[in-house]
Amino acid sequence: MPRCRYLPLLPLALAACSGDQSVLRPRSPEADAIETLSMVLFTGGAVIFVAVMGLVLYALFADPDRTRRLTGDHLVLWGGLVFPAVTLAILLVYSISVSNAVTRPPAQDALRVEVIGHMWWWEVRYLDESGELEFVTANEIRAPVGRPVEVALTTADVIHSFWVPNLHGKMDLIPGHVNRIVFTPREAGVMRGQCAEFCGDQHAWMAFHFVAHEPAEFEEWLELQRRPAPEPPTPMLAAGREAFVAYGCGACHRVRGLEGADGDLGPDLTHVGSRPSIAAGRLDNTVGAFGGWIVSAQHLKPDNFMPSFEHLDGPTLRALAAWLESLE
Ligand code: CUA
Repeated sequence: MPRCRYLPLLPLALAACSGDQSVLRPRSPEADAIETLSMVLFTGGAVIFVAVMGLVLYALFADPDRTRRLTGDHLVLWGGLVFPAVTLAILLVYSISVSNAVTRPPAQDALRVEVIGHMWWWEVRYLDESGELEFVTANEIRAPVGRPVEVALTTADVIHSFWVPNLHGKMDLIPGHVNRIVFTPREAGVMRGQCAEFCGDQHAWMAFHFVAHEPAEFEEWLELQRRPAPEPPTPMLAAGREAFVAYGCGACHRVRGLEGADGDLGPDLTHVGSRPSIAAGRLDNTVGAFGGWIVSAQHLKPDNFMPSFEHLDGPTLRALAAWLESLE
């Protein structure tokens, strides 16, 4: 049934309408300006396309005596020279003015965040008012609504591209260079961001979440993140923490407050249980997903730096996964 060949793609097409990763649902003034520019270009292009197709049909089907009156120097001069020159000049001025408006320098009170791209995850560093590092998190950025966010972007390896379509356009992360992007989230909610520059086989699984909070809620989250990891409240979770140390996880991952867990090759896990996803958008944040990730990281995301710990026994794996998920 050739008519159904594209049916499996339907869920993908419908997913594009959900709006949490969409240029068509702007949630910042910067994204508003980009959306308006896109609509002007799409609409203008559609009108011109229809007009040209109309002329083509007219030329094909109308009486040759009548079409002869339309053709000639005037049509070429006005339709082929003056119209495109004027239209393109207006659009150039308009698009440059939009581009200037959405790349203005940040306000004094901007929330400052540094983002470092890695193959294939995002390191996110929060700075205080004086520019000192407060804490590090991964694969999620949180910010209050109504306050500009200045994201300083660079990379630890290859070129990546930072893109939260609901908030702004794309900005590259370039080795040895810092790019900045500024936007002001307008409403609370969770948006999805995605690496927008091919950076290796797992590029498609280099996602993150942007969570916009009401200001008071954001302050609570900041307070939580500043604290070290919580003490395990049960023997099972304590066993999980012991396993984390025993299997050397701390050589790559930092857990603030846990001795020997100060690696910085992989994501900081101090509050990993509070994030919307794990493994850069690859899995939901559940105990089962942690377990699955630990035993088959290389199957779920081949060639990432995390080895698969296939030989862990069941009780140890369950405790380790539960402890990680409890780190809120
Ligand atoms: Cu990072 Cu694509």
